[in-house]
Amino acid sequence: MNETTRIPSHVAIIMDGNGRWARRRGKERYEGHMAGMDALRATVRNAAEYGVRYLTVYAFSTENWGRPQQEVDALMHLICKGVEMETPGLIEQSVRVRILGDKSRFSKEVLESLDRIESRTAAGTRMTLVLALNYSSRSELTAAVRTLASRAAAGEIAPDQITEQTISESLYTAGMPDPDLVIRTSGEYRLSNFLLWQASYAEFYFTDTLWPDFDKAEFEKAMQAYAARDRRYGLVREGEPGNDE
Ligand code: FPP
Repeated sequence: MNETTRIPSHVAIIMDGNGRWARRRGKERYEGHMAGMDALRATVRNAAEYGVRYLTVYAFSTENWGRPQQEVDALMHLICKGVEMETPGLIEQSVRVRILGDKSRFSKEVLESLDRIESRTAAGTRMTLVLALNYSSRSELTAAVRTLASRAAAGEIAPDQITEQTISESLYTAGMPDPDLVIRTSGEYRLSNFLLWQASYAEFYFTDTLWPDFDKAEFEKAMQAYAARDRRYGLVREGEPGNDE
């Protein structure tokens, strides 16, 4: 994070509550996801303006394939349509898009859309928007362990050369800073298989606000809560009684 202004460099969000938002309005779940897309567009703009460098959003977990087929299809359609429609705005804001997750399960159409948005926004330098799609932290860690075990079995590395750094470099997030702040909306207090390794020292912010209602005021509340936190990374704070020696 930026120590002088206490702006988190990397914010990760579990966008939860689209379905409940829709149900409370007598709408279809799909309409909740569409409203969620509007909230995401606004949050990207707010985060970039605030000076956040990486914004990671949990848009589709590996567990989400288990939802009714109609909802999965609607989400895939929204992802395809969303990335196409948002690309010009992201380029204009100099936001680069990176996909996090196992792309192998997506249809050719979705895959092409994802590849297109990654290549068309590749020159963006202001902020990286990371879309976690078909993502699960445990599968990511399993894949990393397999890679490292294969390299060890092939004699390329010795087991004691496996370090926290080599593990980090074998994850989908290689090259990205760890999240400083993880936000979850809708009053749920779980990590749900999201960035388990990377969030080791992250601050957490939970709000009852449903994702489609997460507007600029809500974003700012989260930023203020973060700025007030005292991050010690397992150390002690100087000047605290009993910690002076
Ligand atoms: C969780 O709400 C939300 C999702 C599973 C999907 C979020 C996706 C978007 C906002 C669109 C993403 C689009 C792109 C292009 C990245 P929920 O359905 O679990 O809500 P509930 O808990 O109230 O049922």
